[in-house]
Amino acid sequence: MPTSIDVVFTPDLLPFSDLTGKTVVVTDILRATTTITLAVANGATAITPVLTPEDAFRLAADQPNTLIGGERGGVKVDGFDLGNSPREYTQAVVSDRQIVLTTTNGTRTLQACRAAERILVGSFLNLRATVDQLAQVEGELVIACSGREGGFCTEDTVFAGACVAALEETQLTDAAETAKLLYQTHRDDLLGMLKNCYHGRSLARIGLGEDLEFCAQVDLVDVAPHLIDGRITA
Ligand code: MLT
Repeated sequence: MPTSIDVVFTPDLLPFSDLTGKTVVVTDILRATTTITLAVANGATAITPVLTPEDAFRLAADQPNTLIGGERGGVKVDGFDLGNSPREYTQAVVSDRQIVLTTTNGTRTLQACRAAERILVGSFLNLRATVDQLAQVEGELVIACSGREGGFCTEDTVFAGACVAALEETQLTDAAETAKLLYQTHRDDLLGMLKNCYHGRSLARIGLGEDLEFCAQVDLVDVAPHLIDGRITA
């Protein structure tokens, strides 16, 4: 069991946390870490998160067998193979392929956690697999929410609270206690929470409401992707 759990609500707060020697779970429920979880479960060999579309094009040009995915404003970037909808990352599309991914908030959070000793990628799709890994952590655990453009978002905090709630008898910071309370409020209607939160409403407005149903699924897959040396693998 971890010795303590903290939740960091936005990547802009990460510089105030010393992640050295700690385990971090990065989450961006809508939608980056949901998409990454599914891509790994569907056989993608590695996902490399990068900050900008320019970085993505540059890196993919040097790597054979690579798809470029991600979004800006929720929609696929011109010239990319894939957007950021998990529904696009089917086995037929991603199996045995490498993916370079850039998203507005999620890949930024992954980059910001580089100082951590171990980095996992979590979503509702792999909640049980994530918690199973976290239960074995012996040091300090930080759950890093991607938030929305530097601000707080409900859905990532609810996921953080789900992890906290599953790891009882651990010392919690006030942020972790608060995340647990938010999860307890929403656990019986995760889809309702996603439909009601700011980003969920934005995705529905641009015709991506089906993604909310996808992202609300709990324990769809049994993978615990890790970010190691800049690449996310199973
Ligand atoms: C992000 O990283 O900001 C998100 O995944 C945005 C999205 O595609 O919904």
